[in-house]
Amino acid sequence: MAASSAVGHASRVGQHYSQVKQVGLDKRDEARIIKMRNFNNFIKSLLINMYTNQGDTVFDMASGKGGDLNKWSSRRVRHVTFADVASESVQQSRERYEERHKSKFSASFHVGDLTRAVPQRWEPSLDTSIKFDVVSCQFALHYCFESQKQCKTFVKNAAQNLKRGGYFFGTTIWSEEVVRRFREAKAHGYSKFGNDIFSVKFPAHYQDPPSIFNAVYNYQLEEQVNIEEFLVYFPVLEDICRQNGLKLIMKKSFGDFFKQQIKDEDNRKLLERMGSLETVTEDGPQTKRPKLTYKHAEARCGFDHDQVGTLSKQEWECASLYVVFAFKKE
Ligand SMILES: C[S@@+](CC[C@H](N)C(=O)[O-])C[C@H]1O[C@@H](n2cnc3c(N)ncnc32)[C@H](O)[C@@H]1O
Repeated sequence: MAASSAVGHASRVGQHYSQVKQVGLDKRDEARIIKMRNFNNFIKSLLINMYTNQGDTVFDMASGKGGDLNKWSSRRVRHVTFADVASESVQQSRERYEERHKSKFSASFHVGDLTRAVPQRWEPSLDTSIKFDVVSCQFALHYCFESQKQCKTFVKNAAQNLKRGGYFFGTTIWSEEVVRRFREAKAHGYSKFGNDIFSVKFPAHYQDPPSIFNAVYNYQLEEQVNIEEFLVYFPVLEDICRQNGLKLIMKKSFGDFFKQQIKDEDNRKLLERMGSLETVTEDGPQTKRPKLTYKHAEARCGFDHDQVGTLSKQEWECASLYVVFAFKKE
């Protein structure tokens, strides 16, 4: 796989994610935030199931190590184009695809800074006659808010090969909530907020209200992630998307999306299959993990419930910082 030609922050982000150690399957089960990871995967699956159909041609934008390969297989798509700035991650996703998914759908793999390079400049370049039914961008849109130019290129990459009537959907940071929590922390004299599993910290030069682009913050998650990200100012994202023929049809916090989707029985079964919640009784969680607390759930047990399924307080404080979104190409 050719080396990425990314510069500046995108290159650092790519290197960072490539180096994040791949936790083996057994170890994953022991990982402290496994339930939140499963929950995030559940949210991604819901979106993929909502907007993707059997036989679709897909663009997985900022696809990382191919975290959604299984989801594309289950959805029986026809083809997936994977692209990310991190060449090692792209290589890893290709290997995982060749090991387990090759017989299920066709795929192509590309390295490129999607905030700077259009498909003709990815490595290898993309045949631009390809038309996508859907474009999925999971936990990555926030990286394009470094500058207006980068945001425009990123959205162009999402929109230009998307068919009319097709969807651009994903997950990203809920900036309004980040700012709200930061103001609250500041009012109590803190320069960051978070808990034992994650933290969000703004630089000393942070202005409030934040700038539209380049509103940088540091995000840390366990020992895995420690990276600079940017607040996503949604009204401007909507404008740039509109200029590219994309109309916003949904934006919801993870909490609201979850509450809405969990009314459906198939989704409840999927949630259970994906092991996304911890079982808690009045005696505590089934699996004890260091530093995670479940008092909110323990208090609900013993009256009308014997047990409840939930995330720990710490995981929920982190997962509830995100939104789902979907745009439709007109
Ligand atoms: C949190 S990971 C998510 C990976 C994948 N979408 C998933 O859900 O498993 C964020 C990804 O965005 C990629 N990324 C960040 N900036 C990028 C850029 N400018 N161009 C392409 N990919 C980028 C990173 O390399 C990383 O793989």
